Formats: sequence, structure tokens, C-alpha cells
Amino acid sequence: MKTKIFCDIADYETIKLFNNKPIVDGFTTNPSLMRLAGAKNYKNYSLKILKTCNKKPISFEVFADKFKNMLEQAYEINSWGKNVYVKIPVVNSKGKFTGPVIKELSDKGIKLNITAVYTFEQTQKIFKNLNKKTKSIISIFAGRMADKGKDPLPIFKKSISLTKKNKNIQILWASTREAYNYTQAKQINCDIITMPPKVINQINGFGKSFKSMTLDTVKSFLADSKKSRFSL
Ligand code: E4P
Repeated sequence: MKTKIFCDIADYETIKLFNNKPIVDGFTTNPSLMRLAGAKNYKNYSLKILKTCNKKPISFEVFADKFKNMLEQAYEINSWGKNVYVKIPVVNSKGKFTGPVIKELSDKGIKLNITAVYTFEQTQKIFKNLNKKTKSIISIFAGRMADKGKDPLPIFKKSISLTKKNKNIQILWASTREAYNYTQAKQINCDIITMPPKVINQINGFGKSFKSMTLDTVKSFLADSKKSRFSL
């Protein structure tokens, strides 16, 4: 089984570049990445991206906090393109589970990416509300978990085993911190991993020998010592 690589970015030029790379199967964005990319008008900026990226799946997130408004935004975002997945956070800012939103949209055949997932219990609740005939993604935030000293692997393993019989429901390794996360995601048969562009580029270095890594390390330290003209 192949673990698909998505690129985690909202910058237009980077999406244009990475859209042409065969290693990249899709894209994920979120409101913070859109802000970082300098998007002023959410819709116009997304439509500009979709002119370039019109085949590979791409997720755009709702940013409303009330369920009624989330639904309105989701219908709008869904209308932007056939390759669009609408990202819905698993809870709103009050901590209320977005199950009714997920159920309504998924039953209507709208492709969803349920985001900000940190526990197996959340995966179970999401899974119950998803229509198994509709393509959906469940995004588990590995890096943010690891940043807080928690091991992401057990929740991934349980979530993958819950969804594996449903070909339309995919588990996504989100919040990637390093290239080795791709190896980990492959080892547990995770359907998708989304990676920042810099980390995708590091995959090209896979297979490099320890001997040449040692040499590169020593050479770079020496070069920096010379550049700083260190002396003792
Ligand atoms: C992707 O869908 C997520 O929004 C993203 O991977 C979060 O990554 P971060 O934790 O590096 O912000």
C-alpha cells in the first residue's frame, strides 16, 4: 500500500511548483497557512490556487465557529471545484463536537477533511458520522502531539485499523515535523501524509550513507569555522 504525499502549504507560487511534481498527490491548507501566504480575500485567493491546482485534491478549511455558518461556508467552498475537500474542525472553539455538520455534509456527498484530531475517541465519533460512500479524510496532528511529549503512533494505529475496510475514508498524518515521519507513516500503512515543502524536498536525500553524512557534517562545521575566522 502506498502512503500518498500531500504538500502542506497555501503559498500560490509553491503550490504552482509542487503541483508539477509527481511525488505530490495533493495539498492541504488551513487558515494559518492562508494568512502566512498573504491571502486577503479567502475566496479569491483560493480560486487563484484552484486555477493552477485543478486536478489533485486540495483542502480548504471553514473558518466559521457556529455550526450554521460552518455549513454555509462548507457549501460555498465545495462549489469551488471537483478536487476540493472541505476541512471541518472536529470541534468548534467552545469544544462542541461538529458531528451534525459532518453528518449533513457527508450525507450530501461533500468530500470532507476532518481536522485538529488528537484522540482515537474523536476518530471513532467522526467515523460514525461520516457517510461511508463519500470520500473523506481524517487529519491527526502528529507533530503538535509530539511537541507536547505525546506519542502519536498508538492513535494512528487504532484509527487506521478502524477505517481500513472503508476505502473512502482515509487517515492523514498531519503536522509533520521531519522527513522520518514519512517512514513512520509508511510503516503503519497510513493513507496520506501532508508535509511542508521543505520536508518533501528532504525525501530526495533518503538512502544517503552514514559515511557521507559524517563527511558532510564535518565539512559544514569546518566551513562555518572558516567563514567566522575562528582562532584559539
Ligand atoms: C494540515 O492539514 C494541518 O493543518 C497541518 O499539517 C498543521 O501543521 P502544523 O502543526 O505544522 O501547523
